[in-house]
Amino acid sequence: MKPDLSPTVIIIFGITGDLSKRKLLPALYYLLKDDLLHADTVVLGISRRDVSADELLRKVELHVKEIDNACDPVGIQKLRKALRMHTMDLDLDTDYMQLLTVLQDIEDKLGACMNRLYYLSIPPQTFESVVSRLGKHGHNSSCQHGAAAARLLIEKPFGYNLASARTLIELLSQYYGDEQIFRIDHYVAKETVQNILAFRLYNPIFSTIWNRRHISSITITAYEKIDIEGRAKFYDHIGALRDFVQNHLLQLAAITLMDLPEKLNSQEIHAKKLRLLQSVHRITEDEVNTASKRAQYYGYANEVGDNSTTTETFASVTLHIHNDRWQDVPIKLQTGKALSEKRTDIRIVFTEANTSENNQLVFRLQPNEGINLGLQAKQPGYTNKVDKVDMDFDYEQKFITSHGHPDAYERVIVDAAQGDQTLFASSAEVLAAWEIVNEVALSWSASGEGLAKYQKGIDASKIAN
Ligand code: BG6
Repeated sequence: MKPDLSPTVIIIFGITGDLSKRKLLPALYYLLKDDLLHADTVVLGISRRDVSADELLRKVELHVKEIDNACDPVGIQKLRKALRMHTMDLDLDTDYMQLLTVLQDIEDKLGACMNRLYYLSIPPQTFESVVSRLGKHGHNSSCQHGAAAARLLIEKPFGYNLASARTLIELLSQYYGDEQIFRIDHYVAKETVQNILAFRLYNPIFSTIWNRRHISSITITAYEKIDIEGRAKFYDHIGALRDFVQNHLLQLAAITLMDLPEKLNSQEIHAKKLRLLQSVHRITEDEVNTASKRAQYYGYANEVGDNSTTTETFASVTLHIHNDRWQDVPIKLQTGKALSEKRTDIRIVFTEANTSENNQLVFRLQPNEGINLGLQAKQPGYTNKVDKVDMDFDYEQKFITSHGHPDAYERVIVDAAQGDQTLFASSAEVLAAWEIVNEVALSWSASGEGLAKYQKGIDASKIAN
């Protein structure tokens, strides 16, 4: 089904950054190529230094070729037509006023008010100053004589710890209504993550066993082969806990463990997710060492040019939930970079019945998206021995589309353009997630004690256990 969108100008702060080149611009290419955005969409790329649109597009082309082996010149042309570049200094108030004029000119030419999507793809340290300048200079509303909306899209991590997340929420609320703020967690927008809820809701066979009586542990894993890929400045400030655990992995945990809503609508999903996050035990200062583990790959310090860095590139945290459904079931969240495999999955291990060591349900989020139910079956012949067998559902095989299903960033852009907040994190969820891991973040920032080291390309189980 094609989204029904109004004319929109997407203002990307940080258009020359890594995220924009790897995810945002390719997502816009696919959306425009397939005519999924309004024909009058404008992408306004904001950068500090003068960069030509063609230079950027060459990078997008290369990236798309890497993913798809081919890049449609018509798609690139459509992106070229929509893309305008604008230089500004994010620390200069006058430049925000100038930006208003640029937006007004775009709308005057079209002869209509446009929805304005401000996408902050900039270092988290700069969110506060940019948000307050946007607010102060009237970028929190669209043109005065129309009903178009101004929306703000903020990348994760939202805040550096609990206190700074609160400050950011407070600041945002001075200028923006909650319906205008879209806190991005692109994992929530992944097709296979959306399927978790659908799977739970539409396969009631699992609802009766979705609890501590039948499930003995759950492990949520996001391992990557890539290292920090030159993103030294961003990553060294953040580390694996803030990059993945506080947001992506806790969101996955909430979606997997929350009580099912009656309907899959934004309000009900957010309410149930929040309730779950609020019932997760907040790790105390004394529990940090037993509940969490961190490590850094050899060579990382060199990459970031700081021999004393204690930033973790691997993090694992074990959670406990205080509610009837999950009491005493350990929930392990683990992530790391420069490992032997790229794998994101959710492994539900059912309570052992006899020797059924394969009694597991695995949601494979990437790669080879799908769902696997591990079972035991009797071997044929004059034996009572059983063997591990699998019931497997493969997304690609069943649902093949032009370039797979929409990438998470395509979904993020379309949903924000439509004003649908279902797949974004609410401020209450962000705060609840911070409350859970705040002591871990504080303790890890305070000292490098207990930081293990690992070789690049290692099998993560060697670090994790
Ligand atoms: C981002 C992280 O949120 O997700 C990156 O900041 C990480 O460090 C990326 O590489 C992974 O996303 P995906 O969709 O490729 O799994």
